[in-house]
This record gives sequence, C-alpha cells and structure tokens, in this order.
Amino acid sequence: MGSAPLSSPLAPGQHFTPPALVDHVLHLAGAAALADGSRVLEPACGEGAFLLGLARCLRRRLAHMEVLAFEIDPSAAETARRAFARALEEEAGLGRRAAAARARRSVVVGDFLASGIWDEGRFDLAVGNPPFLEAKQMPKAMKAALRREHERWTRGAFDLFVPFVGRAAEAVGAEGRLAFVLPNKVCIARYARSLRDLLLEAFPLTALTDLSHSRAFEAASVYPVVVAAARGETTNRVAIGLGQRQGGTLHFRRVGSLPRAAFQDAPDRVFFTLPEEETTRADVEALLDPPLRLGELLRIRWTVSFHRAGLRDRYLFPRRPDSPHALPLLGAGRYQGNRDVERYRIAWRGWWIDYDQSRARADGNPLPDPRLFRAPKLVICQNALRPRAALDTVGYALKDTFFAAHPTPAARRLGVSLEALLAVLNSDLVHRWYRSVFGMTQVRGGYLHFLVGYLGHVPLPPPQRLRGPSWRRLVRARSEASGAPAERLDARIEAAVREAFNLPQG
Ligand SMILES: C[S@@+](CC[C@H](N)C(=O)[O-])C[C@H]1O[C@@H](n2cnc3c(N)ncnc32)[C@H](O)[C@@H]1O
Repeated sequence: MGSAPLSSPLAPGQHFTPPALVDHVLHLAGAAALADGSRVLEPACGEGAFLLGLARCLRRRLAHMEVLAFEIDPSAAETARRAFARALEEEAGLGRRAAAARARRSVVVGDFLASGIWDEGRFDLAVGNPPFLEAKQMPKAMKAALRREHERWTRGAFDLFVPFVGRAAEAVGAEGRLAFVLPNKVCIARYARSLRDLLLEAFPLTALTDLSHSRAFEAASVYPVVVAAARGETTNRVAIGLGQRQGGTLHFRRVGSLPRAAFQDAPDRVFFTLPEEETTRADVEALLDPPLRLGELLRIRWTVSFHRAGLRDRYLFPRRPDSPHALPLLGAGRYQGNRDVERYRIAWRGWWIDYDQSRARADGNPLPDPRLFRAPKLVICQNALRPRAALDTVGYALKDTFFAAHPTPAARRLGVSLEALLAVLNSDLVHRWYRSVFGMTQVRGGYLHFLVGYLGHVPLPPPQRLRGPSWRRLVRARSEASGAPAERLDARIEAAVREAFNLPQG
C-alpha cells in the first residue's frame, strides 16, 4: 500500500478526499484490473478527487471506459469537469475537445438520490466519499423524502451516507465492486445495519481500513474507514488495513485479515478491525472463535431507570427512608454514581431506594421485579474506561449506570463460579479485546460503552478451566487488597486468565 502527500480540505461541509486516500480506495476496489468497456459510478464527486484518481490509476485505458459522476453543487461540479477534462487529456491521451466533451457528459449536476440510476445502470464499480449528514441535522422535508424514497436504507436515526452507499450498491451489476470512504459509524451504528447486512450477504466485504486516528480530513471531526466489497467474492476473509499520518503524509498498511464470519457472529453484526500492536492483535485473533461466550453463562440485565424529571428525588435518599420497601442502592449519585463500583469492589455511598412498586407504577415509572437484585450477582458498569465489575454478596438495588448479572442454569450445570467470570471480565485481556471489537465509536476520552449484547459476546475459555476454588480465593483476596498487593494479585489473575485461554504469558 502506498503513500502520498495530503491535500488540504476545502469548503466547510464538503470534505474532499486527499489523493493518497483516493489511491488507497481505488487499490482496494481493484480499479487497476477494470476491463475495457467498464462503467464506473461516483455518486457525489465534489471537485472530482476520485475522477482524477481513476485517471492516475487507469491512464490511457480510461479512454475505453465510461465514468458517470453526480454532484449537487454546481460550482464543485464545474471544477470537477474542468479537472477531469485536463486529466483525460494528460493521462488518458484524449484531444482537448474530446476530453472536454467527455468530462461534461461524465459529471452530472444533480441529486444522485433522485437520479433513479440504480434501476438502469449496471456499473462495474462504484467509488467515492459520499456526504455524511445525520438525520437529526436534516431539514424535516428532506428527511421525510429520503425515508419515502429509500425506505430500506433510512431506518432509525439514519445518516445520509447509508442511502448513498445502498443505492450505489444497487447500481452495481454481478461481479461488480464498490469501495467508499465512510464514517466509522458504518461499523457499529444500528442505523447502518442494513448496509452491514448487504456487505455480509449479497455484496461481500473484502477489505476494511481504519483511518480513525489518521486525521485524514483535517477540518472535519469524522473518523473514517474505507469499506470495499465485491459481488462475486468467494473467499471468506476480509483484509484489514490501517491508515496513519506520518510527517504530513498518509500511509497505509495491511495488518492482517479477519474471517467474514467474525462479523456475521458479532452482536448487531458490528464490523471491527485488528489492533496495530502485535501482542494484542495475536490475542484478538486467538479469541475470534471461543468455546463459550459470557452471555451463555451470565444473564445480564438492565436495572432501575427514572424516565421523568423529579421522580428520582422522590425515590432515592442519602439515608434509610422510613419505608418497608427500603433497599440499599448503588449508582444513586447524579454524576459520580458509577464510582460505587470499583474493579472487584463495591463502595456503597450509603444511598437507599424506596422500592415501592405500587407507588412507582402509579407514578407511571414501574420498577423491575426486585429479585433482579438478589445476591450473589455481578454488578457491571455501563460506561467506563475498561470493563469494571464487582461481586455483590449483599443484594444491592442498582440504578441504570449498572447491569445486574446472575449465573445462567448452564453456568451452574458446568460448575463455573461468578468469581471466575468476574476475573475474566475485569482482565486486561478482555479490556483490550473489547476495545478492539467494540471501541469503534469511542475515539475521544477513551470511554467505552457496554451494552448487554456486547458484554454477552465477551469470549470465555473452556468451562472446565473456570472451575475450582482458586478463582474464588484469588478474587476474594483481590477484593480486599489495595496498592501494591492489589497490583500483584491483578498480575496473578491476569496470568490465570491467559492460562485458561491457553494464551502465551505476556
Ligand atoms: C464528502 S464530499 C466528497 C466529494 C468527493 N467524492 C471527494 O471524495 O472529494 C460529498 C459531496 O457530495 C455532494 N452531495 C451532497 N448531497 C448530494 C446529492 N444528493 N447528490 C449528489 N451529490 C451530493 C456534496 O456537495 C459534496 O461535494
């Protein structure tokens, strides 16, 4: 994979793609292998970055292909036409007038999403960097029209790039390919699930490059990835790449590959890449197909929420309320609530909840069955820098900054203790695995978001390695230790977790 100098971003809202990134996208799209007579679609060409890239890549062969590009902004389209005409002259060897006429035909001023081209055109390749715009930022009429015209691609709180890629993919014929620069939300957002389904079924993903940390677009707060796919793809692996900026230049390298099945099996079919660091990468690869997952042995559940302002103050108290329904509560503090649970240790701040279910029902805010809080259970933080959980032997009620987790019947049958599961969940290994697989939405601040489905996907070693009294001893000792002894116990637990997974010691 190559490298080239970065160009600077242009008008606000229009983030044009630097040539180095264009070349990488065209490389993943296999553009160099296009046959004479091929047809290429660029649904939102801006000032023509991809048209120029095609000229660089195909040179004289471009004269024997057809390129169709859309651009809604007439002045950007005019710039694209002029630049493409020059490239057709200089790179593809066309005469000046022929080049100008061809560029004029190639760049259409108009709305790609109103073009209906997907019903007519059978393209061999679709490439580009479509506009990114969240539905909540769109004028109401625009959002409604998009939902009406592109139903399959506009579910939930969608983003404009989804119908762009969906429709461009529909315009590509059998054996055709696509490659796009997209926000990394495509990998994880619920609203992009329709695209992920497409890329795991009818139009298999072939490559995924992470540019989240490359600052490829200096002016934009977007964290891009490159997604490439081929309709006729028969291999089951996806090439994973990494784009990084070094000394003002964007470099790309392949860090490995992942089986497409890893995305098919992931909750909500999220896409992920491989970490750059070698040991972590080897660990993530080793944990791709584990014998068990946490969701099989732990039932993880959502806890108490207050849906209306003011309700919280009528149920939560800094000391025991005079009520037969009083329960000690974790997670009550407004901002610091999740400090109540440290790794391996519960630090109750003395808060209580009046767990009066009939009063709450009358208030329109039903509370879950209090058996949800029975001990023993694991209490798991929902937002934290790393997976953080503790064993609760008291039976605290929990507010929704925490999940309640009880052993499943399978865990009991297999004789796996909560302490062993806690050790795995709190380990560095699982932290690094989680950050690699579900860290895509987190870039600033480093906070991870833990969802029930994601936690359920945490890999586990074979159950026989999670039995026995030593887990209990280690975890109990760790929950009472602090400072250097706690660090020593962490190291012992880490070694035990790695051994259970049969991984080399770090
Ligand atoms: C992120 S920019 C990328 C431009 C170009 N593909 C590149 O990589 O440099 C997206 C472009 O889409 C254009 N655009 C926005 N909505 C469009 C639509 N409905 N149809 C066609 N172009 C559109 C914008 O004007 C902008 O130039």
